[in-house]
Amino acid sequence: MPADLLVRNARLAGRDGVCDLAIEGGRFTRVGTDLGVDAKETLDAEGRLASPPLVDCHLHLDASLTAGKPRHNESGTLLEGIQVWGELKPSLTEDDVVARASEIVRWSAAQGTLFIRAHADVSGDNDAMVRGLLRVRDELADLVTIQVTAFPQDGIFADEADEARLERAIELGVDCVGGIPHYEPTSELGLMEVHRVFELAREHGRRIDIHCDETGDANSRFLEVMADDTIKHGLTSRVTASHCTAMGSYEPYYSSKLHGFLRSSGINIVVNPYANSLIQGRLDPYPKRRGFAQLKELLRAGVNVSLGNDVIMDPWYQLGKADLVHAANLALHFTYMSGLDEIPEMLACATWRGAKTLGVEDEYGIEEGKPAHLVVFDAPSPVEVLRLQPVRRWVVRSGRVVAETTPPVTRLFHEGREETITFAPPATGA
Ligand code: FE2
Repeated sequence: MPADLLVRNARLAGRDGVCDLAIEGGRFTRVGTDLGVDAKETLDAEGRLASPPLVDCHLHLDASLTAGKPRHNESGTLLEGIQVWGELKPSLTEDDVVARASEIVRWSAAQGTLFIRAHADVSGDNDAMVRGLLRVRDELADLVTIQVTAFPQDGIFADEADEARLERAIELGVDCVGGIPHYEPTSELGLMEVHRVFELAREHGRRIDIHCDETGDANSRFLEVMADDTIKHGLTSRVTASHCTAMGSYEPYYSSKLHGFLRSSGINIVVNPYANSLIQGRLDPYPKRRGFAQLKELLRAGVNVSLGNDVIMDPWYQLGKADLVHAANLALHFTYMSGLDEIPEMLACATWRGAKTLGVEDEYGIEEGKPAHLVVFDAPSPVEVLRLQPVRRWVVRSGRVVAETTPPVTRLFHEGREETITFAPPATGA
């Protein structure tokens, strides 16, 4: 019996040489060197890197592609973005949310992102955002695995109806319960919000993903409360804290205490390079702070960190095209992850560390018996993927090629000669 699909001559991170991947019935059946199996379809990777798919751990799919509606965010701040979004969202329809979100899911899949955690705003009267994203999750399940978080953008205590709206969204079938404690009117209400989110998640058996300390205020310390609640409720890796940008302003003593606490809690941290780099520190006088979670130090301390696109052509960010490799490259620069061992770690943050955040490890990875999801980059190694941000030659979902890109060819004409420029360093040695 021939295999359904054979990927030949692929490099795998952390493994010498090239190998073949045989796929049958949507799963990897054999991974090894020179398998010599017949297949109905064969892809020759020619030494390119094959990786488990990219995992986008934080994406506001309900707001994507709304930039400029009803107006632009002139100041570029988080608060004006929330204001603009607040003006738009009463008019949104479920069909509009589905159309825009589906478009971004297709962009993501085309670039090798086959797992997404999306956030649906559940504050306010209009429930089109959560209903729309739940539809996208179910309708596109064969292309991308999507988790939907109920995200109370305006908090749950400023408007007395918002707590009930969060509960209603949970009943509609979201995967995760979200929160935004630093945005509540007082710190006390912020603490109450964190506890309430944990109670709701435990009661309904959902994961937790809270926008936590997304501010430059060094006194914003809800993350330690999340870690404490994670331990008390025994939820370990089912809990994620997103953004955590106040960490960029924490003192060294508090930071080191926090790192150990986060590790023992098993909590996941998600860094969102686009919003974090442009929004945080924006109003600082010079010298300006970098508003990033301490990605490098957290990894060193044994905390799981992953990445999200967060914002794509919306009230907070005019640009973006759902490319998580580009996001990883940006995070690398802002968090000083430039060591030779650190650069590949950024691809890990965009891939298997993200799978750990989403809790999908059982269906993730290039291993015999697992679903055959993979991306083949047009580059031979993780370092080259971060350097070149190459096209994704093929994207495979459950053994089916769902996207392919022909690599561009660049030709230089100079001094009467024509040469092809590959951006590869010249070969050295004899
Ligand atoms: Fe966010």
